[in-house]
Amino acid sequence: MQINFLKIKPFNIFIIVLIFFIIALIFLLVFIILFQFLPVKNQKQPIAYNHKVHIETAGLQCIDCHVSVEQRAFATLPSIEICQNCHSSDPLTESEEEKKLLTYISEGKEIPWIKIYNIPDHVYFSHRRHVIRGEISCSECHGNINEMTSPVSAQFKMMSMNNCMKCHKERKVTTDCLACHR
Ligand code: HEC
Ligand code: HEC
Ligand code: HEC
Ligand code: HEC
Ligand code: HEC
Repeated sequence: MQINFLKIKPFNIFIIVLIFFIIALIFLLVFIILFQFLPVKNQKQPIAYNHKVHIETAGLQCIDCHVSVEQRAFATLPSIEICQNCHSSDPLTESEEEKKLLTYISEGKEIPWIKIYNIPDHVYFSHRRHVIRGEISCSECHGNINEMTSPVSAQFKMMSMNNCMKCHKERKVTTDCLACHR
């Protein structure tokens, strides 16, 4: 059988286009859903933030920006209010990246940082517990952030169950399922 496209009625063409559109939409949805489950790899941050310059030149410490790392479960990523203390009207450098920052600040918009370290909701992890009670340095899990001149784009140590368990066994900390899965 041969299809003569000229003979197809406009209404049928509409249906065909509609079906193609729906198929394309389904593909897009499947892609978006699958994408959520892929491990985070080499993400591009909205501003090429430089840790080294802020620790060495501006003399800041981790908790100045990751404010609740010693008190709570989450370390948090900084809001523009923190950046604004030093970057407000006149740029400090010639950097294009700083110009982007000043645009966010003048428009009062938060910077959409991409969180690189993630664990699922069914797992409990507390920074305070590890950093204060466990006396574990940031670098043990996150690598040498002090020396980083480009943004964090991938996990230094994969925060997988195996890696949590490995250290817990070494340090004789609980490996009870319910300690982490509550
Ligand atoms: C024992 C390993 C470990 C140590 C030590 C550690 N972190 Fe984390 N960090 C994690 C894990 C796991 C996550 C992901 C947490 C989540 O998604 O709930 C994370 C997430 C983060 C984030 C992303 C924002 C957030 O709150 O989730 C920042 C920023 C961070 N850590 C900073 C620090 C700093 C600063 C220190 C040192 C003072 C530190 N971390 C020490 C394991 C660690
Ligand atoms: C305590 C002051 C201070 C705070 C707070 C601060 N900065 Fe900076 N920042 C500086 C200084 C000083 C420089 C210039 C360093 C130099 O001379 O190269 C700089 C430079 C920069 C640059 C351009 C230079 C480069 O190497 O990329 C960017 C982008 C930047 N900062 C982003 C941020 C962001 C984003 C925040 C908030 C999360 C922030 N800064 C918070 C002091 C600060
Ligand atoms: C001036 C503010 C500032 C200071 C000081 C600072 N950070 Fe950050 N940090 C940021 C910003 C902004 C990001 C998001 C951009 C990026 O990933 O580089 C970030 C991201 C991170 C991340 C990745 C979190 C994630 O899941 O995306 C880690 C880990 C981290 N910082 C650790 C540290 C440690 C350790 C120190 C101290 C040695 C430190 N930071 C000091 C501003 C700061
Ligand atoms: C580098 C070593 C190290 C890594 C990696 C590590 N932990 Fe721990 N964790 C410790 C130590 C040490 C303690 C005990 C701290 C204390 O003295 O209270 C601890 C304690 C805990 C506790 C409290 C246990 C209790 O007794 O109730 C939980 C929950 C926990 N960790 C979850 C995690 C999760 C989830 C991960 C992986 C994302 C992880 N840890 C990765 C070293 C580590
Ligand atoms: C020290 C913390 C810790 C302990 C103890 C722990 N888990 Fe986990 N578990 C995790 C983390 C973190 C993840 C998430 C891993 C990821 O997303 O890659 C996880 C994920 C899982 C998952 C989901 C698997 C998947 O692929 O997402 C199952 C099932 C699981 N754990 C079962 C257990 C059982 C059973 C035990 C007791 C023998 C246990 N866990 C003890 C930290 C822990």
